[in-house]
Amino acid sequence: MKKILDLLSEEMGQAFEAAGYEAALGKVTISNRPDLCEYQCNGAMAGAKQYKKAPIMIANDVAAKLEGSKVFKEAVAVAPGFLNLKLSEEYLLSVVKTMAADAKFGMEMPETPKKIIVDYGGANVAKPLHVGHIRSAVIGESIKRICRFVGHDVIGDVHLGDWGLQMGLVITGLNERKPELVYFDENYQGEYPVEAPFTVSELEEIYPAASAKSKEDPEFKAAAMEATFKLQNGERGHRALWKHIMNVSIEDLKKNYGSLNVEFDLWKGESDVHDLIPEMVDYMKAGGYAYISDGALVVDVKEETDTKEMPPCMILKSDGAALYNTTDLATIMERMRLYAPDEMIYLTDKRQALYFEQVFRCAKKTKLVNDDTKLQWLGFGTMNGADGKPFKTRDGGVMRLENLIRDTKEEMFRKIQEGRQMKEDEAKAVADIVAISALKYGDLSNQASKDYVFDIDRFTSFEGDTGPYILYTIVRMKSIMNKFVEQGGSLDNLQLLAAGNESEKALEMQLVQFNTMMQSAYEEIAPHKVCAYIYDLANAFNHFYHETKILGEENEERKQSLIALLQVTCRVLESCIDVLGFEAPERM
Ligand code: ARG
Repeated sequence: MKKILDLLSEEMGQAFEAAGYEAALGKVTISNRPDLCEYQCNGAMAGAKQYKKAPIMIANDVAAKLEGSKVFKEAVAVAPGFLNLKLSEEYLLSVVKTMAADAKFGMEMPETPKKIIVDYGGANVAKPLHVGHIRSAVIGESIKRICRFVGHDVIGDVHLGDWGLQMGLVITGLNERKPELVYFDENYQGEYPVEAPFTVSELEEIYPAASAKSKEDPEFKAAAMEATFKLQNGERGHRALWKHIMNVSIEDLKKNYGSLNVEFDLWKGESDVHDLIPEMVDYMKAGGYAYISDGALVVDVKEETDTKEMPPCMILKSDGAALYNTTDLATIMERMRLYAPDEMIYLTDKRQALYFEQVFRCAKKTKLVNDDTKLQWLGFGTMNGADGKPFKTRDGGVMRLENLIRDTKEEMFRKIQEGRQMKEDEAKAVADIVAISALKYGDLSNQASKDYVFDIDRFTSFEGDTGPYILYTIVRMKSIMNKFVEQGGSLDNLQLLAAGNESEKALEMQLVQFNTMMQSAYEEIAPHKVCAYIYDLANAFNHFYHETKILGEENEERKQSLIALLQVTCRVLESCIDVLGFEAPERM
């Protein structure tokens, strides 16, 4: 199905043509005077010069051609030359019916789906997830789902930070605590134990302590660098220990991401491309791209049009060590080989803007990717506390993601218990589901690049632009449909009739924006557009609900039609929240 504005513009274009003007003038837009009309066309003004006529004359000619139109029930020419339009209810009905009959609500699928890799999450092994990770996970998951919904072939990759100094720090920290471990015995030849010599909580303690110590104690730092070197060069004990760190940490990460409905297709990381690095380095040298500067191997990525400084992209440090850039570039090389993606989308916080600019330029220049491979980076803002500074725990520490989720669930539980009669365990289960919507919607409804304030009270409210409000609206629809069934109705093959009142028509007009919205959410990588749409849709529905007797409607055909409208609205809302990465409970 075409976008509604394109359908309307086509009809309008025909009227322009019939009146002797160019069809292209018939561009229809949403009205900016909703008190006067639903849509409008300003083509008569645009054509005035070309046809040497007063705009109002052109508008009058066109309006005359629209008399009896099946699409517009009203097309009025007003000074100085606007065409004010109202849709025919019958026509709107036909569009809603087309939508309702399609699992994708009239979204046209691409002829050749693109292969897209979304690189998000980006957790660092051995470090607990903290609030700083929520945005990458939540926004990335939604972007992955949007790309999938519009018909592309999408792979989500967590791209773990699992190979750098942080691993050396953990190993050194562990060495200090448990020097007797067999992993540190260089003469040990036997098999290493299957069980990890630490728990996840121990691991989470070791990293921050080791990191702090390395800043004060140069000897400790040197030992950590040495351990990193040994790990990367394949020292047996270090590798075995690293494997344990990976297993314990990944299991914990899966649990945490899982509680946010975040799932990755690939659990790859920086370490996966270690063996590709020498080959990539040789390739970059042989191609004449990389050269030695101050001992380091670099690729120039400056361009003539640059207005700000663009440092070269460093491939290897002077001691030959690989960097964050190195593994990212090698990952691009590996992805091209394994998946040949048309596009890669990366999500990190805004501070990595320059970094990704360098990496992308380097990948293009060195032809690690094709000329038409699209490399995109989306930088997101910070989640702040009420004080406008990055969100902290009450005592000023870094908030763990787990605890943030726990607090939100508790607050949601409290709100659900307030004024609702629900058994405690049901309320708990419902609160768990709704809390995820509160967190995710609170994040996703902001344009990603902006900072936002985490306001638990607002996010968990059932009123306003919030996740719980959207879910509440869905649950309300489901409960009406359930009652309809209890009263003997069937939800199969319900026939839609043309809108019977203004609020019903307004709801339908909001519905038919769906494919336009989803297309632009995809093109602009903008989940907040999905949020804005469902907020408007939920409002339009609730307005309709207050204006219209549904189950009390006496005319049976009309009642069925109202339920059918509710049914399609509910399906659209549920698809949208699925794309945003949360779900609705049955009751709340
Ligand atoms: N681990 C990185 C960090 O904590 C994020 C990884 C993002 N993805 C990438 N391909 N560089 O900053």
